[in-house]
Amino acid sequence: MNVRDAILNRRSVRKWVKRPLTNKELEALKEAVRWAPSAHNEESRFFYFVTSEKKIAELCAATGRQFKPDMGLVIVACSSNADYGVMDVSASVENALLQAVELGLGAVWVGAFNAKKVRAALGIPSNLTPEALVPVGEPAEKPEPTKRKPEKETVKIV
Ligand SMILES: Cc1cc2nc3c(=O)[nH]c(=O)nc-3n(C[C@H](O)[C@H](O)[C@H](O)COP(=O)(O)O)c2cc1C
Repeated sequence: MNVRDAILNRRSVRKWVKRPLTNKELEALKEAVRWAPSAHNEESRFFYFVTSEKKIAELCAATGRQFKPDMGLVIVACSSNADYGVMDVSASVENALLQAVELGLGAVWVGAFNAKKVRAALGIPSNLTPEALVPVGEPAEKPEPTKRKPEKETVKIV
């Protein structure tokens, strides 16, 4: 799959068929988050790859039960409290979403969660801030493309 196809075929998937991810899938996703660019190449980020069913259930509860806990993985993407930490994390999250498309997996970027509950579930230390959760798994839905603003409201060539 080329990059353009991955970009255009990505959808936010919020329903999954319950199955663990394979090692190959986990390795590809780990590589995707690690090889994203970062400010000064400082990599001000850290990722918990949560595969334990018990912990996944706790994380889903921390999102206000937005999702049934059927995903095989939740990536908890943390910044390490540096100036560009949020951007460093965001670059990795988008890499993971695109890698998931190539693997035939479904994922969604989740920004709405109770950070205290996420911290408590994983014992996240105070030098890290959870910025996003990314549930990933075998998709159980094929969402239609969502709308985008007209190009001229988003992009201007100068
Ligand atoms: C920063 C950010 C936070 C988001 N938070 C949530 C969320 O908490 N729950 C959710 O279901 N989707 C969340 N989304 C997914 C968006 O709703 C989704 O990307 C948007 O509706 C466009 O749809 P698409 O991803 O299928 O193109 C978030 C996306 C981003 C980039």
